[in-house]
Amino acid sequence: MKKTILILILQYFIIAQPSLDIAIGPYIQNVTDHSAVVCWSTLKSNSFTIEKSGKIRTIPQYENHEMILSSLKSNTEYSYDIGGKGIPEEMGTFITFPSEIEPFQFAVLGDSRSRHDVHSKHVNRIIEKTPLFVLNTGDMIEDGLNIHHWRTFFDVNKNLMRSIPYFPTLGNHEKDSPYYYGFFNLPNNERYYSFSVGDALFISLDLEGIQYQTPDYLNKENLDYFWNNHELHYFEEQKKWLEHTLNLHDDAGYIFVFFHQPLISVKKSRVEESKMRRKFWGDIFERHGVQVVFSGHDHHYHHALSGGTHYITTAGAGAGLYDIDALQPETVKAIKTEHFIFADVKKNSAILNVIDINGDQIDTISIDKRK
Ligand SMILES: [Fe+2]
Repeated sequence: MKKTILILILQYFIIAQPSLDIAIGPYIQNVTDHSAVVCWSTLKSNSFTIEKSGKIRTIPQYENHEMILSSLKSNTEYSYDIGGKGIPEEMGTFITFPSEIEPFQFAVLGDSRSRHDVHSKHVNRIIEKTPLFVLNTGDMIEDGLNIHHWRTFFDVNKNLMRSIPYFPTLGNHEKDSPYYYGFFNLPNNERYYSFSVGDALFISLDLEGIQYQTPDYLNKENLDYFWNNHELHYFEEQKKWLEHTLNLHDDAGYIFVFFHQPLISVKKSRVEESKMRRKFWGDIFERHGVQVVFSGHDHHYHHALSGGTHYITTAGAGAGLYDIDALQPETVKAIKTEHFIFADVKKNSAILNVIDINGDQIDTISIDKRK
C-alpha cells in the first residue's frame, strides 16, 4: 500500500560554500523516526601513482560532509538543498520513518560489485517502486580499498540514494575499508547495528571480522582456524550484543537480520564453511523468532526454511552468477538468476517478492507477524 499519510514539506537550506563542487551525493543516511543525515563528498585533491607498466593512475581524495538533521517529525517528507541555490543536483527529499505501526516497503539486493548495467537496471526498478529504504547484503564494490570503485557505486545509485536511505552490511570485498566508514553513516558502531521501523526490527551483522587479511581463512585450508582463533573475541562480543538486542525487542512484530556470508549454502565448494558459520551462530535466530535472515556472497537466489526462520541468499545485483550444485535439506527454492527482493510489510503479515532482471516476479514468500 502506498503511503497515505499527511505529507508535511519543510525546506532545509544548508548553506555550505559558494561553490560546492560536489563529487558524490548528496545522499541520505541513518534515517530514524526523528532524524536523518544528509551526506555528500567534495573532491579535495588528486594524487598520482605510476604503475609497473608506466601507466599513471590518478587517485582522487574526497572530503566527506555530513549534515545531521534532528527533532524531525515521524512519517514526514522533508526536502533539502545543500547549496541553498535551488540547483537540482544539490537537492533531494526523504521521508522519516513511522514511529507507529504502519505499512511500509523496503528493497534488498546484494553483490552489486560488477556488471554495473545489471546493477543499474535493479536500481532503476527500485526507484520506481519507492521503498522506504534499501538493504545491501554486502560486496557492494569489487575492491573496497579502490576509491574508483566507490565512485562508480555512488554514480549508479545517485538518483536512488538522494531520497532513499541505504543500509549496507560488510562483505569480504569491502575489505573493512576506511572508505566504507567514511561514506556511510550508520547506527551503533557501524560494523553491526540495528534500527527500527514501527514495530519491525532490522539487524546488520559483521561476519567478516576486524582483521580481514587472515591467510589461513582466505585460503580455506583450515576452516577451524577462523572460528577457533581468528577474531573469536570479536565474534563472541557481537553474539552477546545480538542476544541482548533480540531480548530488548522481544515484542517486535517483525525481525529481519542481514549479513554477507550465508549460514546455508547451495554452492558445493562453500557448504563446509557455511556449516562452520551456522555452528557458531547456533540456533539464535530460530530461538528468538527471527522471521528472515538475508545474506549475499553466493551469487544466486536461495530460499531455505529452518525452525520458522527463512534464510534467504540474495546476491544477484551484478556479480557473475554461481551454479547451484548442492541443494540442502532446508532448501525451498533456488534459482540462478539476477534479482532483487522487494518487501511489502503490512500490519499483520509481510510479503517478500523476488524480482528478476526483466522485472518479472519469480518467487513470493509470505511472512507471518511474530506472536
Ligand atoms: Fe562475498
